[in-house]
Amino acid sequence: MPATRPLARGVAMVGAGMSKFGAFPAKNSRDLFVDAYKSMSASLDKGFDPRQIDAFYLGNFSSDQFEHQAHTAPLLADAVGLTPIPATRVEDACASGGVALRQGVMAIASGMADMVLVGGAEKMTALSTAAVTEALATAADVAFEIPAGFTFPGFYAAIASAYMHRYGMQPAHLMNVAIKNHDNAALNPNAQFGMTIQTWMEGRIAAAVKKGKPAPTWQNIWDFLYDEAGNPMIAWPLRLFDCSPVSDGAAAVLLVAADRAHEFSDHPIHIIGSGQASDRALHDRTELTTLSAARKASSDAYAMAGIRPRDIRIAEVHDCFTIAEVIASEDLGFFAPGEGFKAAEDGVTARNGAKPINTSGGLKAKGHPVGASGVAQAVEVWKQMRGEAGQRQVPGDVPLALTHNVGATGSTCVVHVFERKD
Ligand code: COA
Repeated sequence: MPATRPLARGVAMVGAGMSKFGAFPAKNSRDLFVDAYKSMSASLDKGFDPRQIDAFYLGNFSSDQFEHQAHTAPLLADAVGLTPIPATRVEDACASGGVALRQGVMAIASGMADMVLVGGAEKMTALSTAAVTEALATAADVAFEIPAGFTFPGFYAAIASAYMHRYGMQPAHLMNVAIKNHDNAALNPNAQFGMTIQTWMEGRIAAAVKKGKPAPTWQNIWDFLYDEAGNPMIAWPLRLFDCSPVSDGAAAVLLVAADRAHEFSDHPIHIIGSGQASDRALHDRTELTTLSAARKASSDAYAMAGIRPRDIRIAEVHDCFTIAEVIASEDLGFFAPGEGFKAAEDGVTARNGAKPINTSGGLKAKGHPVGASGVAQAVEVWKQMRGEAGQRQVPGDVPLALTHNVGATGSTCVVHVFERKD
């Protein structure tokens, strides 16, 4: 398939919104999707008539396991009054949302649709952490990897160990990624962990004092992050703050044919590049410190868009674990292999750095309701490119941005490039 030719018809985002991410005992994925849909509808500059929507693609990893409800796309379509349009659930593990976005792009580019709703939703917190871990593990190679004792924190711990061995990275370098992403999430009202690690630590000390327990003696966030009581080991070298959380949430974007975008939006955001690739399961790979699917998906997306990695102003990348952000920043061509962790240490990927990454807080701190994450990345890009990201807005214009969404340990990767043309 010629993956890199320009789209046969241009596609633009004219609306984007999300629910709050977190743990919501009283809400199921349907409720969360309704929240996201309302937020998306409110974001259109000129409004729209929902009867114009031709098709709906939903990213959802496993409502079957998490909510004991399969066949979710028509139910969610009905919840926002969209039946009888075609409603299709897309599953590619944690890349489900990004792949749903790509399906929406293809539906419009092919001419089969003029307006497409793309959603992502996942309700994970009804299960215990152990049950969630088991459910997520079905995205790995169940025949070979799970009997060997692997879980997702275990996979990424193996990847982190290999990276440390090859490039001399230390666990503290990964903590830089967590600190940055929590700093960004503290400015994102929809984030699950809308708190800096400093605030988190102070809260833990205050709670201990309130309960009459001995106050922890952490003097700064590094004491906290190195202390088993503050930041327990999950799978060496990954600690709690290296992991994305278990989350509930939903996101939605509205796509239209680019030549109609100004009917709905004063400042549409065009999708000019899309790449998707797959790879063997992790146990069958010879390389652990790079994801070949991310390299292929991004090089295809760049070629389709006619741009280079250096042209990208901001990126939302799939930081399901801190090491995943470091490797993504290299696979996407922003930094050379072995340099990504140094870029995080030097502040290059901070909000005011040369290449801001995960201004939303990322999966780490905004939250990771798996099927929603790829769509929520597009929501952040929409806000930043339109100058609507509030306190976390990056300085200057954002003419080009990128999203990078990974399924499992990189068996799927999907990358999109966005452009603001006006
Ligand atoms: N980062 C920081 N703090 C976290 C956290 C995270 N990822 N996950 C939970 N916490 C906090 C909770 O807020 C809670 O804080 P409190 O005691 O101050 O209220 C505390 O840690 C305990 O929460 P709990 O939910 O009981 O944690 P847990 O030990 O059951 O789960 C993980 C922690 C890391 C094991 C779990 O979040 C996890 O499995 N994450 C990875 C999910 C994943 O694999 N996703 C797919 C990626 S491919």
